[in-house]
Amino acid sequence: MNPAVAPERQGTLSDWQLYRRLLAYVVPYWYLFLFSIGGFLIYSLGNVMLADLMQFLLDSLNGRPAAEGGVVSRTAYKLAGETGQSALEFARVAVPLAAVTIAFTRAMGYFAGTYFMNHVARNLVHVLRRQLFEKMLVAPSAYYDRQSQGILVSKITFNVEQVTGAATRALKVIIGEGMTVLGLLGYMLYLNWRLCLVFLLVAPFIALVVSVVGKHFRRYSRRIQASMGDVTQVSGESIGGYREIRLFGGQRQQGDRFEQASAYNRNQSLKLAFADALSTPVIQTMLAIALAALIWFALDPEILAGFTAGSLVAFLTAAGQLGKPIKQVSSVQSIIQRALAASEDIFAQLDMEEEQDRGQHVTSRARGDLRIEHLSFAYPGGVEDVLQDINLDIRAGETVALVGRSGSGKSTLIQLLARFYPMERGAILLDGVPIQDYRLDNLRRQLAMVSQDPVLFNDTVYNNIAYGDLASASREEVEAACESAHAMEFIRQLPEGLDTRLGDDGGGLSGGQRQRLAIARAILKDAPLLVLDEATSALDNESEHRIQRALEVIMRNRTTIVIAHRLSTVEHADRIVVMDGGRIIAEGSHQALLEEGGLYAQLYHQEFAA
Ligand SMILES: Nc1ncnc2c1ncn2[C@@H]1O[C@H](COP(=O)(O)OP(=O)(O)O)[C@@H](O)[C@H]1O
Ligand SMILES: [Mg+2]
Repeated sequence: MNPAVAPERQGTLSDWQLYRRLLAYVVPYWYLFLFSIGGFLIYSLGNVMLADLMQFLLDSLNGRPAAEGGVVSRTAYKLAGETGQSALEFARVAVPLAAVTIAFTRAMGYFAGTYFMNHVARNLVHVLRRQLFEKMLVAPSAYYDRQSQGILVSKITFNVEQVTGAATRALKVIIGEGMTVLGLLGYMLYLNWRLCLVFLLVAPFIALVVSVVGKHFRRYSRRIQASMGDVTQVSGESIGGYREIRLFGGQRQQGDRFEQASAYNRNQSLKLAFADALSTPVIQTMLAIALAALIWFALDPEILAGFTAGSLVAFLTAAGQLGKPIKQVSSVQSIIQRALAASEDIFAQLDMEEEQDRGQHVTSRARGDLRIEHLSFAYPGGVEDVLQDINLDIRAGETVALVGRSGSGKSTLIQLLARFYPMERGAILLDGVPIQDYRLDNLRRQLAMVSQDPVLFNDTVYNNIAYGDLASASREEVEAACESAHAMEFIRQLPEGLDTRLGDDGGGLSGGQRQRLAIARAILKDAPLLVLDEATSALDNESEHRIQRALEVIMRNRTTIVIAHRLSTVEHADRIVVMDGGRIIAEGSHQALLEEGGLYAQLYHQEFAA
């Protein structure tokens, strides 16, 4: 094994547990599953009956009745006896008729088996995909910090699809061909069990090949999966960052990374294909040897005496027919191993922890008293405390500005307020109730937040503002919110006004325009807590000033936290809180802080000197 490759993820669930869990998804569709199995059963029986028909035909040619045929032969003989025709005359009509009837029934069986199996498999994929997606919607923030977007996307698209392969093709082959194998073996046992045992001697060797190859398949499948994630990740990044790539000449670098991911995927796929391609001929050779041994024994005069020509041919036909289904059953291994590798990963995702939501407290509308007590915080996996012993009291209706150098922990404090991260040390209380005690959706309903880099969805301007819980807002309310955010002025210029579709993440809008839409969305939410985290940073001074004035009206009857880079915009806040290195180092009015001459005064003078 190449030690240079990424460490292998080993599944925590055993194969058996994986099968059982996958099977649980099939349970709701058990009737379709049964139809399908019934169909395949008919299909396999059809195969055996055709072999049996061969026996009847051959024995008829010899004019020699035989008692040891299968159901088809026996029925045929019985009927032939009743018509009083010669064996040949009867066979001439009966065999083609029976062949067509059996073939037709077999075809119907195949149809039902295949279609209903697909039905089950497609439903299985749909359900798995939805569950994965829903899991993402409740995953904690730390989950997104840890994983790359591309890899997450590839789990939903590629990995889930790997399971279908097993559910459709593999199950189809295993059930359809597997039953054919059993049927044919049963028929052979019935014709001559001793001879059949000779043939069965090869079975353990086939099982050995299948099991050894299977282990390799699993390993390659895990790697293929991981590298598909890398391919998606690099592609997504290169699409999103195409400007930077060109401006900084990053084509080579991105190209190399893509080449690496894709080549690794190719190599692992080739290894899988190699093992796959090799295992089939090996198994076929074993079967050929078994067949050779069979013929050698069968032609032994003593054994031969116990056979009619027909039953010997039927026996050999059945043995010969075994080759194809056995080959197919062994070749679906690669598909099954891919599915198992994928379901390991999918189930690991589904078992992951969700955002904590154990609170019960519900309020229709919070008053907006905020108290932060001895709050210290480090990001999950981080060593340094990003916030250290924060104490802050904000009265309902007050406007507090948070200022400080970038990286001082302002945004982090806000993230905690929305419970994006669990906190262990200290407390945040809203109206005297710790925020953990609120039901998560209820807490977030009290909070309207505009971040520095707001996200817009691939939808119309209107739907971006009346988003989620706000979808019930009237058109007038949406327009009023846009007016307050000074967004209406540019929305009117758009080809279809409010009904213009935005691209991915508001493509085609300037940073300032996107911020104004985000502000409109927050205004429409009309929540008792308003948080503006550098919400106007992308606007020019004049627009910022105008929006600031509009926002002052809105801030009047709610608790507001403003984080601003430009200190000129927070001069009028009731109180200014200065943060540095994760601590609150000063607070007071603009005037008082200036007179104090600390960090605030320093930052303020820098701004105006620039
Ligand atoms: N998701 C995160 N995971 C780990 N560290 C983070 C994360 N977000 C921010 N940080 C770190 O926390 C510190 C404070 O960041 P932040 O709260 O964004 O500062 P500010 O908003 O004041 O500029 C920084 O040192 C930053 O690197
Ligand atoms: Mg910030």
